Amino acid sequence: MTYKAKMIIDKSYKISEVNPRIYGSFIEQLGRAVYGGIYEPTHTSADEDGFRQDVMELVKELNVPIIRYPGGNMVSAYNWEDGVGPKESRPKRLDLAWGSLETNQVGTNEFATWAKKVEAEVMMAVNLGTRGIDAARNLVEYCNHPGGTYWSDLRKEHGFHEPHQIKVWCLGNEMDGPWQIGMKTAYEYGRLAAETAKAMKLVDPTIELVSCGSSGSGMATFPEWEAQTLEHTYEYADYISLHQYYGNRDGDTANYLANTLDMDNFIKTVIATCDYMKAKKRSKKTMQLSFDEWNVWFHSNEQDKEVEPWSVAPPLLEDIYTFEDAILVGSMLNTLLKHSDRVKMACMAQLVNVIAPIMTETGGGIWKQTIFYPYYYTSVYGRGTALHSIVDSPKYDSKDFTDVPYLDQSVVFNEEKEELVIFAVNRNLDDTLLVDVDIRSFEGYDLVEHVVLENDDPKAINTIHSEQVKPHNRRDSSVENGTLTAVLPKLSWNMLRLKKGEK
Ligand code: AHR
Repeated sequence: MTYKAKMIIDKSYKISEVNPRIYGSFIEQLGRAVYGGIYEPTHTSADEDGFRQDVMELVKELNVPIIRYPGGNMVSAYNWEDGVGPKESRPKRLDLAWGSLETNQVGTNEFATWAKKVEAEVMMAVNLGTRGIDAARNLVEYCNHPGGTYWSDLRKEHGFHEPHQIKVWCLGNEMDGPWQIGMKTAYEYGRLAAETAKAMKLVDPTIELVSCGSSGSGMATFPEWEAQTLEHTYEYADYISLHQYYGNRDGDTANYLANTLDMDNFIKTVIATCDYMKAKKRSKKTMQLSFDEWNVWFHSNEQDKEVEPWSVAPPLLEDIYTFEDAILVGSMLNTLLKHSDRVKMACMAQLVNVIAPIMTETGGGIWKQTIFYPYYYTSVYGRGTALHSIVDSPKYDSKDFTDVPYLDQSVVFNEEKEELVIFAVNRNLDDTLLVDVDIRSFEGYDLVEHVVLENDDPKAINTIHSEQVKPHNRRDSSVENGTLTAVLPKLSWNMLRLKKGEK
């Protein structure tokens, strides 16, 4: 059976310019993300600094503009001073967040060096779990002050003459979470974050700060946490963070794919809470959103319980993603794009080996997970102006959601390149969705490619030996008389790219 949907796209229905930072990612000092992931001095592809060039190539392919570091949960008991200076004298520490041994062979300077090589900005998180104002302001001075002071001269002594000029800083991580070392009440966090922010901005007034929002939409304290913490941090922070992971634990694909309705609602509630605080404070500033942890995370939960405690770089959080995970990831990216007027940064969590689009074998090869593909295409082609579209789609109900549209989409117009890009998911597990897209204001535009991720098996995976889930091109969609007829196969992620005067 074929289902039918309609869309209207118009150049003047603008949401916002897309901030490229929404295609950010995350490297935590956790599992094999750093050691055996981005850094492996004995690997055949290692460069002069010990970084795997095969990994760098794929990170660059993804066009990742900003990368969060060093955590995550890990940062809440981290002493940044352990990770700078001569490598041979760096202490080994218990990483309490993940039960591993941290050798500190990679720290702030190494990460900043790596980020430069992959052409990404660093988003640095400070420890507001076990530490506070002093450690944070010293780190800003170490990273960003030009010289002539204790911490900036120490950076020079460590071989980094020029400041790293790190713009974006996270005021702690998930401080509402009972699992967090040094978890805080909203009041405790709000006060500490505000005073830390004040000191950090005194050191470098050009930095941008992210106040910790809730660890997920399911937290009992959401959205009261946002309201209470912003009471203190509104004046100093530029963004509030959102984190969210989904999983298909009960094997209900239709319900699983509807989770972006929750994500959408999460974003809307955070915006409403921020705007309430703006009104309450009579502020001129609009708080922006940093969705700085999002992804699918559940496959590795059980196997992680078997990992030997206090090992160095153990294989933790190594989810092997399925085809249906890639569809949800595509939808999550659509949701970020549809909120690009307020979501100005986002980080797919994470980037290499740990719940990641890129996997490596320590001492071996590299491969792309299923989720690599929607991330790649949206990051590379989803740049320009996000457009609001009018959608009329058949719907379904699932265990947790009602009125779930089969068609999930986002639209980006790149005026400079004269390119219109539609990212579309067909959530229907059994049937094709035929979408009539009225592209009224895009006269002379034609379809140049229709890239599709489709597979008969929702649980299909990629491994280093076989790539079952990879994109291919379809030729059954076309443009005629100002209408694009898009054929979206059952359970598929699609990119339809149109250009002016081209076939
Ligand atoms: O990304 C994995 C973990 O998820 C992060 O360390 C933490 O912030 C979140 O709970």
